[in-house]
Amino acid sequence: MTVTQTMRVLSGIQPTGRFHWGNYFGAIRQYIDLQDQAEEAFHFMANLHALNTVRSREDLSRLTLEAAVDLLALGLNPEKATLFVQSDVPEVSELCWLLMTGTPMGLLERCHAYKDKKARGLTADAGLFTYPVLMAADILAYDSDTVPVGEDQVQHIEVCRDLAGSFNHQYGETFVMPKAKLLEASAKVPGIDGEKMSKSYNNTLEIFEDPKAQRKKIMRIVTDSRPMEEPKEPGDDHLYQLYSLFADDAKREDMAAMYRRGGFGYGEVKKALADEAETYFAEARARRKDLEAHPQRVREILADGASRARKKAAEVLLRAQQACGVK
Ligand code: ADP
Ligand code: TRP
Repeated sequence: MTVTQTMRVLSGIQPTGRFHWGNYFGAIRQYIDLQDQAEEAFHFMANLHALNTVRSREDLSRLTLEAAVDLLALGLNPEKATLFVQSDVPEVSELCWLLMTGTPMGLLERCHAYKDKKARGLTADAGLFTYPVLMAADILAYDSDTVPVGEDQVQHIEVCRDLAGSFNHQYGETFVMPKAKLLEASAKVPGIDGEKMSKSYNNTLEIFEDPKAQRKKIMRIVTDSRPMEEPKEPGDDHLYQLYSLFADDAKREDMAAMYRRGGFGYGEVKKALADEAETYFAEARARRKDLEAHPQRVREILADGASRARKKAAEVLLRAQQACGVK
């Protein structure tokens, strides 16, 4: 079969904390896989979105740079993909305004980030309320057609499609209609308490934390208190689910067989998990060390990314400005 369809991929990730295993298996690894299939790939650190939650200058700038270093270390290749910082492309904020003038309040009132906050009796900032419009501008500014996202972001892609559709309808064909590419749902990575791993739940295992400290954290993973000799169903156990992310097929099957036989201790599984995770990320950790020693190289990659991204965004912004009569 010949594949003729080309893809212009775009993804954004908020630099609101250090990346954890959930971010890797649920998102980052899939961005990296896509860079080989896409005709063009844009990936950015959504620092303007993160401003809604990170209120310290030092934290935001450090987290933004660390996110870039992490993505490069994990295999994002600047020769294949354009990596940049969202705020380095001011054209997007201008485009956001143009879209905002045609955004019904009701559409944003239905968006979950705002709605959830309001339901909890909290007041939201305009930044949180209009967050989906900035996200739409991010997507439309690069004529992207494929946006890999988790389930929680699908609603925002729908908003983007709505806004692009009504702009095109009002002013003539201007924007490419994007589609969400749902990231693998099977990659719901559990945290050390067995709930979904998330920095909001304080249950994460970070990709680049010190292996010794990480091993200690792994040894503290909550397990059930059934007797050792009782056979267990591996699929139900979060420790096994974590182990499966790293181990190859043969090791995974051996581990599953051990669960089903019973007569093992969770300590053994935890040790095996720590070993596998350490080996799995060893190469990335070495690449990260190298990048940390050459911060200038990272700055150059981001500057080059920003200039490529701006070139494209300026072209789309001009198209939109001309369409609606401000240019
Ligand atoms: P967090 O929940 O830690 O705040 P984010 O919401 O910033 O993480 O997630 C960034 C990306 O990582 C999203 O695409 C999201 O779907 C993915 N992701 C986050 N946590 C997990 C998880 N536990 N399992 C799978 N994917 C995840
Ligand atoms: N809102 C996304 C998140 O929290 C991040 C993001 C910002 C994004 N702009 C985007 C994702 C554009 C995809 C496309 O995960």
